[in-house]
Amino acid sequence: MKRLDGKTALITGAARGIGLAFAETYLREGAQVALADIDIDRARREAARLGAQAFAVEMDVTSQDSIEAAVEATLAQFGQIDILINNAAIFTAAPIEEITRAEFARCFGINVAGTLFTLQAVARHMIARGSGGKIINMASQAGRRGEALVAVYCASKAAIISLTQSAGLGLIKHRINVNAISPGVVDGEHWDGVDAFFAKYEGKPPGQKKREVGEGVPFGRMGAAEDLTGMAVFLASPEADYIVAQTYNVDGGQWMS
Ligand SMILES: NC(=O)c1ccc[n+]([C@@H]2O[C@H](COP(=O)([O-])OP(=O)(O)OC[C@H]3O[C@@H](n4cnc5c(N)ncnc54)[C@H](O)[C@@H]3O)[C@@H](O)[C@H]2O)c1
Repeated sequence: MKRLDGKTALITGAARGIGLAFAETYLREGAQVALADIDIDRARREAARLGAQAFAVEMDVTSQDSIEAAVEATLAQFGQIDILINNAAIFTAAPIEEITRAEFARCFGINVAGTLFTLQAVARHMIARGSGGKIINMASQAGRRGEALVAVYCASKAAIISLTQSAGLGLIKHRINVNAISPGVVDGEHWDGVDAFFAKYEGKPPGQKKREVGEGVPFGRMGAAEDLTGMAVFLASPEADYIVAQTYNVDGGQWMS
């Protein structure tokens, strides 16, 4: 018996990186998985590689119509949604004096409003169905404290921790568990962008920030997407039924250091 046999999951931002690793792991654990992403071509390629239990669905989490259409398409495909992972997000960074309203709105539109309204759309389905569900939001160590050059992204991830608390408290009466995972630094294309930013603002050669950050993790290296998958399976499983509104650090000890 696999741990997610008979379950269906919708994972946003699943065309690459951590979301894709979650999709691969859930499929191995017996779930059917909708890979939702704004990059539908890549989501389709990955779903085709992953096999018949994987389904690619186009979704822009900044658009209410797109969220609702993606939820409907997933329901048409699978008949139900048991698990949602709100994983889609963007990184943005700038010194305080250079932050623009447009970039603030873009980041909060994807990271915060995208998470809230995807959560709401799936929660409405879960409530109507009456079988409960699991919702996992992706926070970050960046949401635990500010950083001089990363104000907007940090604030967006602090908002995820807060939304997880409110939604967790609001939905548990429907037996919908809302919790979050807070990674530290996870290698991948996302971090290539972070590294490029610090190369620009701190005058570091490409790759140096990544090396420094990896050396600073108490575990001794940056995280890999696969380091997070165990927590994602656990929080989606019945073992987590009594866990409500929590955000778990999975970060090699980084937040404690
Ligand atoms: N990588 C890290 O170091 C790290 C650390 C802490 C938290 N996180 C969080 O983990 C999650 C995944 O990170 P990742 O490193 O895999 O990121 P990533 O940038 O590699 O992947 C993000 C995915 O989201 C998709 N996406 C972007 N905008 C979208 C939109 N409007 N609608 C739908 N999809 C959209 C992208 O196409 C991409 O496939 C994010 O929430 C991120 O903030 C990452």
